[in-house]
Amino acid sequence: MKQYNFDQQIERHGTDCVKYDGMKETFGKDNLIPLWVADMDFKTPDFIINALKKRCEHEIFGYTFASDKYYDSIIEWLLYKYLWKIERDWITYIPGIVKGIAYAVQCFTEPGDKIIIQPPVYHPFRIVPESFHREIVYNPLKLVNGYYEMDFEHLESIAEGCKMLILSNPHNPGGVVWPKETLQQLAEICTRHHILVISDEIHAEMTFPQYRHTPFATASEEAASCSITFMAPSKTFNIAGIVTSYSIVPNEELRRKFYGYLEAGEFNSGTIFAYEATIAAYTFGGEWLQQMRSYIMANILYVTNFLKKHLPAIKVYQPQASFLVWLDCRELNLPQQELVALFKEKAGLALNDGSMFGPGGEGHMRLNVGCPRSILEQAMNALLKAANMK
Ligand SMILES: Cc1ncc(COP(=O)(O)O)c(C=O)c1O
Repeated sequence: MKQYNFDQQIERHGTDCVKYDGMKETFGKDNLIPLWVADMDFKTPDFIINALKKRCEHEIFGYTFASDKYYDSIIEWLLYKYLWKIERDWITYIPGIVKGIAYAVQCFTEPGDKIIIQPPVYHPFRIVPESFHREIVYNPLKLVNGYYEMDFEHLESIAEGCKMLILSNPHNPGGVVWPKETLQQLAEICTRHHILVISDEIHAEMTFPQYRHTPFATASEEAASCSITFMAPSKTFNIAGIVTSYSIVPNEELRRKFYGYLEAGEFNSGTIFAYEATIAAYTFGGEWLQQMRSYIMANILYVTNFLKKHLPAIKVYQPQASFLVWLDCRELNLPQQELVALFKEKAGLALNDGSMFGPGGEGHMRLNVGCPRSILEQAMNALLKAANMK
């Protein structure tokens, strides 16, 4: 069996990548250790690179369409990963999940309509609807014994009149793989209030082996009827720049409306490289994904142990999926600006400021551990040194 090397450091400067070359724009500096935007510093696996190279050898890149191979690769992958049996008609390509959210917002809601999100949560869930003049209604997650849960009591109190709920499943930044029962309850409430659920499942494939991801639409019949699911191989196989997202809609009425909208604007036509990369990822990706997940789990363990030993005021929410680690820094008792300065100015690290994820995000930072361990070691030691300077 091939052993993949996740320790390898690869120079990414000069590739117009957001994480390195876009750092100055966001942080005002370009020399921080980049542990922010959610892609990984690992080499995209060779079976994807080889598929793209092979396609390049043809040397003509004319108009294309989604082939049987493309649909079959998704259908088989979802069956293999989640025992979810889907039909070809339910699937369509979308040019990114954030854009998919924007299309759904425009297709199913009007300016002024209310859309529920559950902060702290991935910030475009707020920014995109607000940009289209929809009203965001918060149903903040609640912390119960150190774990995030959905607040159904509060949800019941705000649901009336809301049109849509955007769900992060698994949750970014909290790292929660939602239990099936939670999703069933969510579906029941949303169905009763005629709320369309947009389930963003981009991190699902990286669920750790001791947890089980439930695609929202498989939680119950109600869930299948009231939802649109967005998925992608892009985070998992480090191909975000190739734009490989897709949508799944089991409900025929929703599908007709949403896919009619996408078709009208040709928002659902993918590129040659998107289709090729998806087919390669889902045909050959099982083994690489297992090794990548193991490496990420070891990175999380390293950070957890380091902080426990040297900086116990920073607590790690143990992620149940993916490479984003939510750090609870509230015991440091620093105002948000000083907390951000500790990481950025004193330690020289580029993490995401927790407050960007909305209410409940203050006092937190989001750490991306999708990098060689040596980089994390450097980062943790820099953080320790900075904290001791206080
Ligand atoms: C929860 C979540 N959804 C969507 C995205 C971005 O997806 P896309 O690049 O397909 O728009 C991210 C990226 O960080 C994410 O964390």
